[in-house]
Amino acid sequence: MCGIVGYAGKEDCVDLLIDGLQKLEYRGYDSAGIAVIQNSHIEVKKTKGRLADLVDKMETEGRLKGCCGIGHTRWATHGEPSDINSHPHGNERISIVHNGIIENYREIKEFLIEHGYSFESETDTETVLKLLDYYYKGDPIDAIAHVVKEIRGSYALGILFMDFPDRIFAVRKDSPLIIGIGENGNFIASDVPAILKYTRNYYLLEQNEIATLTEKGVDICDIHKNPVKKEIQVADWDLDAAEKGGYEHFMLKEINEQPTSIRTTISPRISDGMPYLEESGMTKEMLKSYSRIYIVACGTAMHAGLIGKYVIEKLAGIEVTVDIASEFRYRNPLITDKDLVILISQSGETADTLAALKLAKEKGATTMSIVNVKGASIARESDIVIYTHAGPEISVASTKAYAVQLSVMYLLAFELAYAKGAITKEECMRLTKELQNVPDKIQDILVLKERCQFIASRLVNAESLLYIGRGLDYALSMEGSLKLKEISYIHSESYAAGELKHGTISLVTEDMPVIAVATQSDLFEKTVSNIKEVKARGAKVTMICREGTVDDKAVANHLVTLPDMDDIMMPMLALVPMQYIAYYTAVLKGCDVDKPRNLAKSVTVE
Ligand code: G6P
Repeated sequence: MCGIVGYAGKEDCVDLLIDGLQKLEYRGYDSAGIAVIQNSHIEVKKTKGRLADLVDKMETEGRLKGCCGIGHTRWATHGEPSDINSHPHGNERISIVHNGIIENYREIKEFLIEHGYSFESETDTETVLKLLDYYYKGDPIDAIAHVVKEIRGSYALGILFMDFPDRIFAVRKDSPLIIGIGENGNFIASDVPAILKYTRNYYLLEQNEIATLTEKGVDICDIHKNPVKKEIQVADWDLDAAEKGGYEHFMLKEINEQPTSIRTTISPRISDGMPYLEESGMTKEMLKSYSRIYIVACGTAMHAGLIGKYVIEKLAGIEVTVDIASEFRYRNPLITDKDLVILISQSGETADTLAALKLAKEKGATTMSIVNVKGASIARESDIVIYTHAGPEISVASTKAYAVQLSVMYLLAFELAYAKGAITKEECMRLTKELQNVPDKIQDILVLKERCQFIASRLVNAESLLYIGRGLDYALSMEGSLKLKEISYIHSESYAAGELKHGTISLVTEDMPVIAVATQSDLFEKTVSNIKEVKARGAKVTMICREGTVDDKAVANHLVTLPDMDDIMMPMLALVPMQYIAYYTAVLKGCDVDKPRNLAKSVTVE
């Protein structure tokens, strides 16, 4: 939700800021802007629209030039996307960019109005700017320290003070911000991909630490001005990982990266053919001790948790409750100190998931997070962290992050089941081997893209779609349905196939295509019966199943067949056609696949 970059150094920073913002556009893309210190003035260019509109604006109105600057790409919260509401906000002596929400901005605004300030935008950010201005008496750190004591909510702020034309200032609370350490200058950024082209070294800024960046170095202090020493973090992501690499969209590239992402995630967690999660701090004794597990997450990550529930309950016999984080945090869950609470998050910054983690800790549960971004808040605050190694996921619609989250769910289920004595060592090794086979199987399935393209051509004019399945297939179809609606804007709903006849089947006509997933052998016949029910009512059915399980046309109108694997592993294969179908439908509709309307990848507000 909003991306921030900043640079203080030797080089002209305009291209560098634009390039950084481009890597952060996944965080929001309804307006963009930069501010640089140029000829003893703070010069700002900003506009409603995409980053490309900002670049066009500079071409028409003139480029900015300067060695010290900040930039922002916005996902609107307070105030519609407009030139005025775009960041940076500023006056002749201060300019700021902000990611987050200032909860008490109204009272601050009233206070400032009483003190003679006027406001031009509808944003909460402008109140921070004016409060800084109010407190600024020549020492930026004093002013920032005053401000952070008064504002409530979440913020990552990049700030320019005209009196200090060679430096940028930064502070954060509950919104991410890293400090990149370059050779010719230093950076602030909401996320690692924005700085990767220039440096791999960075500091993680903790809550309310204030950073001052110049060409020569970075000083960090707390709000009492005590210096803080930091350990340098080294990014292990490839520079190429944040580029499209010849693919038309990041989403397509990321779908194709799944075999590698899964391999990289599971290989270090398998030892002598057995799952090995102990390096994360999760010992066998701990695994044995939990009587109940909660999995809490949002969006696609929550869908990974649903698959986890089926697999853990089936193999390990432990009760698992899956919660949407925004519900969990307000429903007073009955967690005890004997429970394990698992938080799944690609970004590791999702506000609701972070709040759920804090709640689980307050209640004394052991917390384990499954996170893709190294050093993210959720990872840092949980007792145990298992990093997924998907590399940067840029497309807003999550694909490879989901695949690696599933692979960790499987490893955990196997290890839990073995620790609990629910499966033998041989069975655990067999299942682990099966998981190791998944990347190669997915590689084979990736060739199904033309088949999925054809199916997409049959869906593109639909107004609404139904996804159906039973058991693991139902859990997976929720993700398939989300993928389709978020990027193609076609309404779709995922339904438990056996529940259709209790209401939803009344929607089924020849105008409502159905995608049915039927990969589970014990439920196969039952799902086929449900498919026949919708087909009898005119629906055109696409069926995703194992090779050789049905006769073409007899059951469905279109078939996508998958190689054979153990039942529980089939969602890892069936996810690929789901993703392709959503992707090609969106492409055929001419949608902006990587940046769907109204969405942002990292949701750092409630
Ligand atoms: C947003 C993204 C989804 C993602 C969800 C949770 O809604 O668009 O793709 O699944 O947030 O994000 P997280 O980073 O916590 O996995």
